[in-house]
Amino acid sequence: MSTANVTVMGIFALDLAFRSPRLPVWGETVVGSGLQVGPGGKGSNQAVAAARLGANTTFLSKIGADAFGEIALRTYQDAGVNTDFLVRAQDEATGAAAILVQEDSGENAIVVCPGAAETLTKQEIDRAEERIAASACFLTQFELPIVLVEYALALARRRGVTTILNPAPGLPCPDSLLALCDYVTPNEGEAEALTGMRVSTIEEAEAAAEQLMERGAGHAVITLGARGALVKSATISQHIEAFNAGRVVDTTGAGDAFNAGFAVALAQGKGLVAAAQFGCAVAGISVTRHGTSPSMPRREEVDALLAKH
Ligand code: RIB
Repeated sequence: MSTANVTVMGIFALDLAFRSPRLPVWGETVVGSGLQVGPGGKGSNQAVAAARLGANTTFLSKIGADAFGEIALRTYQDAGVNTDFLVRAQDEATGAAAILVQEDSGENAIVVCPGAAETLTKQEIDRAEERIAASACFLTQFELPIVLVEYALALARRRGVTTILNPAPGLPCPDSLLALCDYVTPNEGEAEALTGMRVSTIEEAEAAAEQLMERGAGHAVITLGARGALVKSATISQHIEAFNAGRVVDTTGAGDAFNAGFAVALAQGKGLVAAAQFGCAVAGISVTRHGTSPSMPRREEVDALLAKH
């Protein structure tokens, strides 16, 4: 296994995950059955997972000088994530997320406030230019302002780095941004937001992937939860099966697990299909555990799962 450099740009959020029988409606209180507090934020989860999978990982973001920010720093220290380009704002709070996890299915609903990360600047991204340029892959999401996402993808593209956009949470976005992405990796809902098309079957996922490529993305990977993923390039259109690694208890962060695995595998030289299979294996393990960053598996666990299949 080669060590590859991966840079992830995104947000940290402290996750407060409540297990609940169902979603409350406005004005209602529902009594939950458990609370888990831990490190989260899509970009941060992806950076932690990439480091656990063996990549030399840098996280580019901004956190506050507060207690949640301290938790972020401890998380990166434990996982071995490079924080040279993690800015600390003196006057902004670190991000936080309220997560409801459905008790039986493990499905989730999230409200996230990015906090300090939203004040990241283009100049702060520029400071990381040489680090990005030294990376095999640059991975980002839509929890930061879209203007920064486009700016950083353009920088990575200019420096010849493979770019991956995990367009989460789902938003419509301009073709100019898609054209900066070697890979775009929405889930079904995010693919609907991006394309305006219905995406619930594998055939519909394929049609959405085709539209994303026609609009400029190099490749499209639509993640399909328990059904795996659909990968599409100019020459390949293939459904990848999900991995069953045990009982599903919490699907929160499964997309982050997939994206980290996918990015690390690409960075280590795997092709589209093998990288998506690796991502599915990482996600398959993460959903058997509670939490987001804490649920991300180590390389040996993923290799062992893949060896069984
Ligand atoms: O993808 C899961 C993540 O989304 C959570 O960790 C939460 O913080 C939100 O950013």
